[in-house]
Amino acid sequence: SLLQACEPSVYSTRKEEDEYADVDWDNLGFGLMPTDYMYQMKCAQNGTFERGQVRPYGNIELSPSAGVLNYGQGLFEGLKAYRKENGSLLLFRPVQNAIRMKVGADRMCMPAPSVEQFVDAVRETALANKRWVPPPGKGSLYIRPLLMGSGPILGLAPAPEFTFLIYASPVSTYFKEGTAPLSLYIENEFDRASRGGTGGIKTITNYAPVLKALSRAKSRGFSDVLYLDSVDKKNLEEASSCNIFVLKGNVLATPATKGTILSGITRKSIIEISRDLGYQVEERAIPVEELMEAEEVFCTGTAVVVASVGSVTYKDKRIEFGTGAQTACRRLYDILVGIQMGHIKDKYGWVMEI
Ligand code: COI
Repeated sequence: SLLQACEPSVYSTRKEEDEYADVDWDNLGFGLMPTDYMYQMKCAQNGTFERGQVRPYGNIELSPSAGVLNYGQGLFEGLKAYRKENGSLLLFRPVQNAIRMKVGADRMCMPAPSVEQFVDAVRETALANKRWVPPPGKGSLYIRPLLMGSGPILGLAPAPEFTFLIYASPVSTYFKEGTAPLSLYIENEFDRASRGGTGGIKTITNYAPVLKALSRAKSRGFSDVLYLDSVDKKNLEEASSCNIFVLKGNVLATPATKGTILSGITRKSIIEISRDLGYQVEERAIPVEELMEAEEVFCTGTAVVVASVGSVTYKDKRIEFGTGAQTACRRLYDILVGIQMGHIKDKYGWVMEI
C-alpha cells in the first residue's frame, strides 16, 4: 500500500537498491550492458524533429526497406558521463558531438536535431540511467546517439523519415589489454577512407568496412589496425577506433583532418592540453618513416581515451616505443581524465555537470 511504501525502513531499503544497478563494477570492459532507458525522437518529412521521449530500453521496429538497412543512411556519436563523488554526473563536451552530428547529417542527406535538442536528449538519457553510471573510479556511462534514415525507400534516395535514438552502457577500458600498451598493425592492403569520401564524418558506413582488416590483425595478436592514406599509402590516417599521435622531442604530431580522418573530440582536447603544456603540436601529414622514429605513440578517442602504443608493425618490421609512468601519454591521460572526472579544475569549460 501507499502507506507501507512511505514507511521509513521500506523507503531506505528501496533507495539503496535504486542507487546503483546490480553490476560487477570491477569487471567492466567495453561490452554492451543494456540499461533501463533509451531516448527516441522522430523526424517527419518536413525535416522537423517532434518532441522526443525517454522510453524503456528495447528493440525498435524498422521497415525491411528502411534507408539505414538498405543504403547505410546512418550516423552515430559517442560520449561519456562520469559520476562525481558528490553524486552528480559530468558530461564531456556534448555540444561538440551535437555539432559533429549536424555536419555528418548534412553529408548524409539527413536532418539533424538542433544542438539544444541533442544535448537535452543526452542529459535526459544519462539521468534516466543514473543507476548504471559506475561509481567514481570504476568507469563511465558510454552514451551512444544514433541518427538514421528509418523510413522505407526502394530507389536510392534519402529516406522519408528519420529517427534519432540514444542508448547507453556502463563501460571501462576499450581494449582487452586494459591500460597496457597497444600493439598496432599498419594495414597495407585495405584503406579506411578515400579523398572525397566520408572518412571525416561519423557515418556507420566507415566502420563495417574495416572489420576485415581488424579481425585479421586481432587474430594475429594486434590490438588495432593503423590505416594509411589511400592515395600514396605513405601517410598515417587513423586506427579503426581512434586517432593517432606521434611524439619526438617537444614536437607532438597528429594527422591533419582533411576529410579522410575523424575529427575526434578527444583528439581536439589533447591538442589543446598539449599546447598549454608547451608542446609544439603539428597537424599535418605524417609519413610512416616518421612514426618509426618516434619516441612515443598514442591513440585518442572517446572509447579509447588516451592509450599508449607499445609497438607498431609495418611490413614485418616491429618498432617499439616508450611507455609507462614517465611518458607524455600518461601525463596527458591524467590531465584529460582528471578534467572529465571533476578532479582537475576545468579551465576550458569542457565539462557539463548534470
Ligand atoms: C568512440 O570512441 O566513441 C567511438 O565511437 C569509436 C567506436 C569504434 C567505439
